[in-house]
Amino acid sequence: MARKLWLQFSKGSLSQIMFKNGFDKFRSYLMHWPGSFESNVSNREIRAETWRALEELYKEGICKAIGVSNFLVHHLEQLKEDSGMVPHVNQVEYHPYQQPNTLIEYCHQEGIVFEGYCPLAKGQLLTDPTVRHIAEKNKRTAAQICIRWSIQNGVVTIPKSTKTERIRENCQVFDFQLDKTDMDALGKMHDGRHVTWDPSNIL
Ligand SMILES: NC(=O)c1ccc[n+]([C@@H]2O[C@H](COP(=O)([O-])OP(=O)(O)OC[C@H]3O[C@@H](n4cnc5c(N)ncnc54)[C@H](OP(=O)(O)O)[C@@H]3O)[C@@H](O)[C@H]2O)c1
Repeated sequence: MARKLWLQFSKGSLSQIMFKNGFDKFRSYLMHWPGSFESNVSNREIRAETWRALEELYKEGICKAIGVSNFLVHHLEQLKEDSGMVPHVNQVEYHPYQQPNTLIEYCHQEGIVFEGYCPLAKGQLLTDPTVRHIAEKNKRTAAQICIRWSIQNGVVTIPKSTKTERIRENCQVFDFQLDKTDMDALGKMHDGRHVTWDPSNIL
């Protein structure tokens, strides 16, 4: 029943967006968070139910790819037990201060694309002395160093800017390479901080 309602709601809002923007399908559609506000049903059940609704949207061709976001290994393991389809993508916070390497390895093993959000740590990394030093050495901006680092680690990255010039700058990261010294220095910056939310307490 919950799935039927959710599906109806999703289809209703998706078709409104499609109609308004002239889309005929969605490239990807993600479940945003592993927890729920429902207190009488477990998060695991809600995730499984929501996921089955997403699977239907995928099978009907409304969404070209479906995925999850902020899912950790235990969430993905449960989803595997509870459903028939592995997510195409898992979108998770990823930048030099936050490097969930075990999760990345798990996603790669399971064929899930790991997509890293907040690659600039919401701007916090742009004044970091290590990042600035590497930027000067490579004659690039601090933002380009962070974005390039994600790419060289095989992570799909989604920087955001509201400014045209910066969007252009953030795209110019395919004509240089960080050397091993730079990659190692950035790789050592993990301190576990989140600039958004931390899903580790969500069962
Ligand atoms: N799934 C999730 O739970 C989740 C959570 C958070 C974010 N996200 C997604 O991740 C994407 C990025 O996240 P985000 O915007 O929070 O973090 P971000 O990309 O790490 O940082 C964005 C910040 O950096 C600034 N910036 C961008 N490019 C810059 C440049 N070249 N030089 C200087 N400053 C620059 C932006 O300011 P200006 O706009 O002024 O340039 C903004 O303040 C978004 O698409 C967001 O929707 C997903």
